[in-house]
This record gives sequence, structure tokens and C-alpha cells, in this order.
Amino acid sequence: MAKARIAVIGAGLMGHGIAQVFALAGHEVTITDSFSANLDTVKTRIAANLKDLGDDARAVERVRPLTDIASTVREADFVVEAVSEDLPLKQKIFGEIEKHARGDTILASNTSVIPITKIMAGLRDRARALGTHWWNPPYLVPLVEVIGTQWTSPQAIERTMKLHADAGKKPAHVKKDVPGFIGNRLQHALWREAIALVENGICDAETVDAVIKAAFGRRLAVLGPLENADMVGTDLTLAIHKTVLPDIDSRPGPSPYLEKLVREGKLGFKSGEGFRKWTPEQQASLRQKVLAHLKKSRDN
Ligand SMILES: NC(=O)c1ccc[n+]([C@@H]2O[C@H](COP(=O)([O-])OP(=O)(O)OC[C@H]3O[C@@H](n4cnc5c(N)ncnc54)[C@H](O)[C@@H]3O)[C@@H](O)[C@H]2O)c1
Repeated sequence: MAKARIAVIGAGLMGHGIAQVFALAGHEVTITDSFSANLDTVKTRIAANLKDLGDDARAVERVRPLTDIASTVREADFVVEAVSEDLPLKQKIFGEIEKHARGDTILASNTSVIPITKIMAGLRDRARALGTHWWNPPYLVPLVEVIGTQWTSPQAIERTMKLHADAGKKPAHVKKDVPGFIGNRLQHALWREAIALVENGICDAETVDAVIKAAFGRRLAVLGPLENADMVGTDLTLAIHKTVLPDIDSRPGPSPYLEKLVREGKLGFKSGEGFRKWTPEQQASLRQKVLAHLKKSRDN
């Protein structure tokens, strides 16, 4: 797609950021939200982000907030849904989008974990429906996972991959619609063992994070695990796995330690304590640190 018309449904945390990326790439963007406060502030939020990042402030002029789904999607070439993570809501919204969008428009959901197959099952034309899983904040994290279902056409995948690559993102094709796609499966495999290390008294939570940040976390942005396995040798990797894997946590469900934290109201930043205690200042400082790091590595 050269310059396309993009429709974004949902102007919350993700929706406004996705709209910003497409507008900055030169596309015309329509956006809607059922909560008027979010729709009314969407352009202000995008303008503030553009200013903060030193991006072309005129991009916001290509974003048009509209109050209903019908007019938002009517002329769109590509529709991305970023409403709350609620399956019946998403199904209902796609039913409505399908009624009003053109027949050749690609329909995408930005769900974090709901299978795309479940969201799109009720559509008349499922060949043009797929997932585009962005990461927060959309204008700083490059990855967009493009998820096909058993019905998605190769053309829809190809057009979507190109659209996102041309907008400066790094699209990754997920060939099967599995829970957690690629990124969250990898991320939560690590989190499971991180929690088990604490649960089993091997170290405290602060040490888990310190070990990652001071060791392989330093390399991860430039050296993926499979590149790393090839670098050290698949034979050495096999030898390590024979010793380590039988001892690594492989329970199929969430850890009882995590369940206990939640039961006790230790919800993390929200309550001031989770795996560790957090003052409001510590929370603000960590958020700031992450944002500064993402900004610095934006163009890599
Ligand atoms: N927050 C993240 O880090 C993240 C990352 C990747 C994917 N996601 C996914 O993206 C989606 C949106 O998440 P978010 O964090 O932006 O949530 P959010 O709560 O910030 O935004 C959701 C928006 O949807 C709107 N909405 C609800 N019902 C609607 C309707 N019927 N019509 C139009 N708009 C409606 C809400 O008013 C709200 O503005 C979810 O599916 C989420 O799982 C979130």
C-alpha cells in the first residue's frame, strides 16, 4: 500500500500510539472510541508524543477522530482494532466493521492473548482477517507480530507485513495462531523460571532481575538465543540442556507463589508491593528509565 487510509478502533493506550505511527508514515488515519474523553484527547496525546520524540508535528493533522465505527471504517484500506481485551466485545466490533468496510479491506486485531481464530470466527470473509500484535509504546517498540489464522490469505499477510515495514516497524510473521504468539511465549517462559527461582529460595526477586540485566540481558537486543546457540555451538547447547532442562520449572499452570501474591493483594505497582516493595518515587523512576532506554534504542 502506498499512502493508505487506516482506521483505528479504540483510542486508548495502544490505539492512539498505532494511529500516531501510521500518521507519521504519511497515511490518512481515522480513529474512533466509545469513551468520548479518550476520543476528545486523542489528537492532544499524539501531538504531545510527537513533540517529545522530536517527530514531525504535522503528522497529527492526518488523524481524524470520528464518533462511530461505520464512518471510521467506510473508506479504510486497513482496519486495526485496539479496544479493551474482551472477546465478546471484539467479536461484536468486527461484525460491525465487516458490515461497513469495503470487501477488500484488511481487518486486524491488536489483541494481546486472545486467539485471532476466536475473534474472527463469525466473519463472512475470514481470508482478510488477521492479528497485528503491537508492543507498548507502539511508537518506540519496533515489533509487530502479524498472525494468520487457518483462513487468512497469503496476500493479506503479505500486504500487512509490507504496510508495517514501510511504516518503520519490524513485522514478524506468526504462521500459526497459538496463545501468546511468539514474543509473549518467549517472555513468559523466562518469567516462569524467574518466579520459580524466588519460590524455591535460590535467590530473591531483586537478584533475579539484577542477574538478567547484568548478564544476558545486555546481549539480548543484539544477540537472539538461537544466534547465541549457534555462536557457542549446538553441541554445547545440547550438553547444557541435558543437565539444566530437567531442573527448570515446567509446571503447566501459574506458580502457586504468584497466586498467593495476588490473593494477598500484593499486585505490584498498583498496591505498592508485588515481588518487591515499590514507593511511588521508585515506580516513577523505573518507568522513566524504561522510556529513556527505549527512546535511545529507537533507531537501532
Ligand atoms: N497495553 C499494552 O501494553 C498492550 C500491548 C499489546 C496489545 N494490547 C492490546 O491492545 C488492546 C487495547 O489495549 P490498551 O492497553 O490500549 O487498552 P485501553 O483501555 O487503554 O484502550 C482501550 C480503548 O477501547 C475503548 N473501547 C472500549 N469499548 C469500545 C467500543 N465498543 N468501541 C470503541 N472503543 C471502545 C476504550 O474506551 C478505550 O479507550 C487490548 O486488546 C490489549 O490487550 C495492549
